[in-house]
Amino acid sequence: MATILRNTPEGIGRAAVELRNGAVVAVPTETVYGLAGHALNEKACRFIFEIKGRPLIDPLIVHIAEYAQLHELAEVPEDILPMLKNLWPGALTVVLPKKACVPGIVTAGLKTVAIRMPKHPVMRALLQEIRLPLAAPSANPFGYISPTCAEHVQKHLGEKLGFILDGGACEIGLESTIVNLSNPEEWQILRHGPVSSEVIAPCLPERKMLSPKESVISPSENSGQIAPGLLDRHYSPKTPMFLFSGFPADTVRAFSRAAVVFLKRSNQSGLEHAEVFWFSEDGSMESIAHNLFSLLRKLDEGGYDALFVEVPDGFGIGLAINDRLRRAAAKR
Ligand code: TXA
Ligand code: MG
Repeated sequence: MATILRNTPEGIGRAAVELRNGAVVAVPTETVYGLAGHALNEKACRFIFEIKGRPLIDPLIVHIAEYAQLHELAEVPEDILPMLKNLWPGALTVVLPKKACVPGIVTAGLKTVAIRMPKHPVMRALLQEIRLPLAAPSANPFGYISPTCAEHVQKHLGEKLGFILDGGACEIGLESTIVNLSNPEEWQILRHGPVSSEVIAPCLPERKMLSPKESVISPSENSGQIAPGLLDRHYSPKTPMFLFSGFPADTVRAFSRAAVVFLKRSNQSGLEHAEVFWFSEDGSMESIAHNLFSLLRKLDEGGYDALFVEVPDGFGIGLAINDRLRRAAAKR
């Protein structure tokens, strides 16, 4: 099992020492937990892929604390700086042309690099102490539900890790929005997330908005390359999962032990073999996002024959929730 490092100067200091020495450490962010390594150390980044079981064709996000690091890692167009000043630190990842110092393993050979300045105070303290950029994918085995607390990481990757830095439950609970800004004339959402296109669009008045990528993408310079955050099946429980809007009574009855998950508190009854849950008391998209992955994980361990999950309308962060649920329920 991994040693859990507490949110103290000593815990953060130990994580920094391990990372500087090339180890992989699980770290908290406001979106989901990450599996971090020194981004400019090729060997450390290779460990990340090995521990996660992630194919080398799937590039990593690089996390920074200072704007100087952004300019060291990427070519930064002037027109995006006001947007970054507005939305960073936060749940927005930008894809920009990379500089030579970024190892090819981080970007899966692409000429672009994905960068984010996270907001979580523990992650910020760590980044400020270590003064290095940290590459980090979500700290889940490849394809499984993302982790939103230290226990989730311990459960699935604890055997493969030395240390997990515990920053409590992730406030947002959904991965960052990824936006491609590598073409100076355009912008495009590559992955829906907490920062919606309605927030981004007014920040980039000179650029043309391309419609969001909705399925497997092929970055133009690498034919056949895919961005696995956009794989049709991802974030998936092992238990068969079905989506509904409205109430799926007849289908639920076909299973001897099903879990039915509503978006908000429900008094639905009349299903003998089903247990009823909800993501949120009040149905706010923020609270649904916050509980989404942790409830799916809990139900996946509950011994059910099937999970029936209500999907929200796709607007704002609801679009990101909708996207994650559709991929989680997608067939292999
Ligand atoms: O909130 C988050 O973004 C979390 C926390 C830990 O920061 N990280 C995260 O990383 O979700 P990951 O590896 O699970 O998802 C990163 C996605 C991948 O699907 C990858 O394809 C895409 O970012 N990506 C990375 N670099 C890219 C690039 N140069 N071009 C296009 N997509 C890229
Ligand atoms: Mg992920």
